[in-house]
Formats: sequence, C-alpha cells, structure tokens
Amino acid sequence: MKLTNRLQAVADYIKKGSTVADIGTDHGYLPVYLIENKIAKHVYACDINKGPLDAAISQIKTNKMSDFITPILSNGLDGLKEKHVDQIVIAGMGGVLIGEILKNNLSIVKEVDSLILQPMTGQAELRVFLLENGFEILEENLAKEKKRMYQVILAKYTGLKGAKLKTLEYHIGKSIIDKKHPLLINLISNLERKWRKILIECSVCDSEEGIKKIEEAKEMISEIEEVRKCL
Ligand SMILES: C[S@@+](CC[C@H](N)C(=O)[O-])C[C@H]1O[C@@H](n2cnc3c(N)ncnc32)[C@H](O)[C@@H]1O
Repeated sequence: MKLTNRLQAVADYIKKGSTVADIGTDHGYLPVYLIENKIAKHVYACDINKGPLDAAISQIKTNKMSDFITPILSNGLDGLKEKHVDQIVIAGMGGVLIGEILKNNLSIVKEVDSLILQPMTGQAELRVFLLENGFEILEENLAKEKKRMYQVILAKYTGLKGAKLKTLEYHIGKSIIDKKHPLLINLISNLERKWRKILIECSVCDSEEGIKKIEEAKEMISEIEEVRKCL
C-alpha cells in the first residue's frame, strides 16, 4: 500500500508496536499500511458512516488483516470505551470537528500517549482549542500534494492551559516556523495570497466584524513578512 504524502506524514508519527485508533478511517488505507509495514500492533478503524466503514472492511478482508484491524461503527471516540489505545489519529476532517470529537471523550483522550491530527480546514481554530483545553503541541509537519498543502499536528494532553501563540503561529504552527520547514515558504505564500484578498474584500466593510477582520489580516501579513525575512 502506497500512501499519499498527506497520509504518509500522518503515518510517520505512529510509533512501532503502537495500538492505534483511526477515527474517520473511510477507505481504511492508513490501518492497512500500518499493519502491512509492521508499524502498529493493532488498529481500530472507526467511522461514523456505514458506507466508508464497509469500504474499510472490504480493504481489511482483501489484505487478510482481520486479526489486526478491528472495524468499529462509531461517532468519534464513542466506540473506544473500554479499549486500550496508545495513539489516536483524526485525519481528513475540519479542525472544528476534530476539536469536538476530542472534547466529547476527554477521558479517553487524556489516557493516550499522543494524538495525530490532520485538519483540512480550521487549523487555527484547532490550535486554539488544543491550547485552551490542556493539550500540548509536541511537533508539526507539512505535506504537499500537487499545489495543496496539508498540516499534521502531534499533540498530547498534559492539563496545562494558557500557552499563547502569535496570530500566524495559530494558522501555521510554531514548530513549522521555528524549524524553517522546507515547505514553509509554500504555505506562507498561499496564506499571504488569502489574507491580502481578505484585506481587499474587507476594505469596504465598516461593520465591527469587518474592522476586526482587517486588523487580523494586517497582523497576519505583517507576521508573514517577518517570517519571510528569516528564510
Ligand atoms: C474525508 S474522510 C477522511 C478519510 C481518512 N481519514 C483520510 O484522512 O484520508 C472523513 C471520514 O470521516 C468520517 N467521519 C466524519 N465525522 C465523523 C465522526 N464524528 N466520527 C467518526 N468518523 C467521522 C466520514 O464518514 C469520512 O469517512
């Protein structure tokens, strides 16, 4: 099984011998890859919808992996109660939904070694949620497929709250900026284009929300320019 760059970046955070829960598994590619390559010991392949879960079940059967991958029809982490899990993956969903899934089963989340989160949108909202709810962001990575950039966050519940980031760091990730990730230039170029467009669009707004957005856009652009200088 060859993974896409995005899913490979997720798989790279799985520790050898780990028991993994893949929430929103869909096609089941990640669980099959983790067992095929003897990375995970066991994977719980969870999905809220029967259609995607059936696709995962057929993938498991084709690869004769029923002893190592357990499919579970489950809303978020609900199906993991009473199960031992080392790492939880939530990939390919919006950042707000990922935050809600974590919040709905904090008792499970608190017990695992780490979380590998791959938000397609709402990256800033997810980082706000993590830092306000006692999670530490341990590491971040980027993946590129065609022109699209994907972010992967490795996090853990520590209970410590109140860490603050600069505006840009919520959108991109502090560790990505600090380590001058090779794909950082692509990500900030995309973001700069987006926020300059927002600035132009909001320049005709005089609502409180519009004015707030202008301030945010100016701050983002100024922080992007600062990061550019260091690259
Ligand atoms: C776009 S797919 C992502 C598949 C795979 N994780 C990936 O990254 O390629 C999103 C999957 O999440 C599932 N999903 C959405 N909300 C969910 C929830 N609350 N709990 C479990 N699965 C969910 C959907 O049914 C769908 O199969």
